[in-house]
Amino acid sequence: MIHKEDIDKIFEAARVEEVVADYVTLKKRGVNLIGLCPFHDEKTPSFYVSPAKGIYKCFGCGKGGHAVNFLMEKEQMTYPEALRHLAKKYNIEIVEEEQTPEQVQSNNDRESLFVVSAFAQKNFTENLYSTDEGKSIGLGYFKERGFREDIIQKFQLGYCINNRTAFTDNALANGYKFEYLVKSGLTIEYKNEQETIAEDTEVENVKTERKYLDRFWGRVMFPIHNISGRVIAFGGRTLRTDKKTAKYINSPEMEIYHKSDVLYGIFYAKKEIIHQDNCFLVEGYTDVISMHQAGIENVVASSGTSLTVGQIKLIRRFSNNITILYDGDSAGIKASFRGIDLILEEGMNVKVLLFPDGEDPDSYSKRVSTDELKTFIKENSKDFISFKTNLLMGEVQNDPIKKAQLIKEIVESIALIPEAIYRSVYIKECSRIMDVEETILLSELNKIRSKKFNDKRNQPSQENISPNNADVEDFPVVEKKDHGIADAEHQERDIIRLLINYGNKIVQVDSEDVDEDGKPIPIDISVAELIIHELQHDNIILENVLYHTVLNEFIQQIEINNVPDYNYFTNHENTAVCSLTVDLISSPYTLSDWEKHSIFITKEEDIIKQSLNNAVYALKSRRLEMMINDIQKQLKENPTEEEMMILMQTQFQLLQAKKEFNKLLGRIIVK
Ligand code: CTP
Ligand code: MN
Repeated sequence: MIHKEDIDKIFEAARVEEVVADYVTLKKRGVNLIGLCPFHDEKTPSFYVSPAKGIYKCFGCGKGGHAVNFLMEKEQMTYPEALRHLAKKYNIEIVEEEQTPEQVQSNNDRESLFVVSAFAQKNFTENLYSTDEGKSIGLGYFKERGFREDIIQKFQLGYCINNRTAFTDNALANGYKFEYLVKSGLTIEYKNEQETIAEDTEVENVKTERKYLDRFWGRVMFPIHNISGRVIAFGGRTLRTDKKTAKYINSPEMEIYHKSDVLYGIFYAKKEIIHQDNCFLVEGYTDVISMHQAGIENVVASSGTSLTVGQIKLIRRFSNNITILYDGDSAGIKASFRGIDLILEEGMNVKVLLFPDGEDPDSYSKRVSTDELKTFIKENSKDFISFKTNLLMGEVQNDPIKKAQLIKEIVESIALIPEAIYRSVYIKECSRIMDVEETILLSELNKIRSKKFNDKRNQPSQENISPNNADVEDFPVVEKKDHGIADAEHQERDIIRLLINYGNKIVQVDSEDVDEDGKPIPIDISVAELIIHELQHDNIILENVLYHTVLNEFIQQIEINNVPDYNYFTNHENTAVCSLTVDLISSPYTLSDWEKHSIFITKEEDIIKQSLNNAVYALKSRRLEMMINDIQKQLKENPTEEEMMILMQTQFQLLQAKKEFNKLLGRIIVK
């Protein structure tokens, strides 16, 4: 039980922005802070923290609350757990009745697993210093590997006594429950001697009375910490050199340890990842530790599992940049290829550095000075195109077919990048390195992206057609005969983007009325009204339900003389509309892009008008294309002569109209 006064103290001291910052990289946005929501998957931040109000709120998934709620939600803590966590963080002493291990364990399963893991870590570490065996074997091993004392302590390394049940017996004697020792995987229980003991221990068919044994007996121990520094699992390395024994065994999956969402070293690395805005990804425990020892702290390991999306997302909370540092052997190369694509697909930047064959960051960092290591990393980290190219170029130099294959492979990787701007940068890079014309690469890229898009559309799950994947630049309205017509998703989105960002801006357009001299009389009109007018003029209905909803809302609001701005939509009761809005208002495709593309227009109004024309023409042109495509399909289905005539005629008209639109569009696009 925590006393009421202490609870008040905790609430007073806890700063929501500081609590959240342990999990999310926050950037200042006005009086608020903003970051990527830790509760749902997103690429553009919609997670706001208001230090003044003491609350957080995600406009994407709708989650919100204060510091205590945040911990309860994020760490699945109970209310008292969250309070205790905060008390510790803010050095507030709380008067609480001393709890026995049993009481603590009965709190709940998760907490009990944490408690048992913390005990185990202390036990293993103590062994290193206060038992002869630990000193000579465990500590001796680490020292021999060149680990410094401060580093051994920082990573809480340890040793599990070389006796099959010593650890478990000790834990039981200290009041820890057998049930949780087994659940945490520290203890392995077996029912009778016929039953084989878990495969990953080195003991086979032990004929013995004992019904349990220590998973890690006789191994040096690497505790694995979660993001807030609690021990959740262990890796244990054998000291034996016989090949029969697995070099490492690890804790099994359990409530507090999901391998695919955990990175070894993240707790010790997160600050420096933010600071350096880059994360080094290595393969093993010892690589992480040695890099720290060499003074490089923004480093984590995927530890034996091949890199997962969950792990990448964990890194993304702190930085968008990952440098893969793997072994130069063929397994390392293969793993880095997989890693590259996964990272690109998450919209992050990736560099790669392979250590010379037979070396890993651990061995290499011990051979050279810290400065040499840093220089080596700096000089040898390559962006993924140069990496793939350098690696494969040797073999393909004189073989045009192999070269084409390599180019295709690289473009396939580029096609995974969600942001069009980055794709175009990499296409340029690829064009330079491979000496291939950019337009050829672009057409290949479009082919892959449009196929991907169509494939996704054909999958039953609708969530794949995420607006995130879409932007106008993928499907320029130039000739693209050879790939299928999907829909007008990209063009519709662009219309909605303009509506939400600039809907209530006033622009001047010519009306149909003329003055005495026959000149059209200009009128002031909101961008929203203009767009609605344009769409209604050609009976265009948006097919995407979400976009349709937004457009309709504009129409309704304008009827009551209110042109909404984006605030109206960020506070919308429909959370899908909120998150779409947050997406669109933080989209990189703001009007300033037009200036970057050397279109020198000074007045904001003119820029908006041009963007608007462009978007409307693009949508109309796209729709025409879809209609033409439809007709072509019908033509293939053996129509009667009369039907054929009508179809051909319609097709001709549509093609004419499309030409007109493209001419208009072309004028605007020309740079
Ligand atoms: N690993 C594992 N099980 C194994 C081998 C490896 O879980 N049987 C994981 C460990 O997390 C290990 C990582 O894969 O850290 C990389 O493996 P490896 O390079 O073989 O180990 P190192 O970390 O280099 O360990 P050491 O230097 O002690 O050989
Ligand atoms: Mn190694």
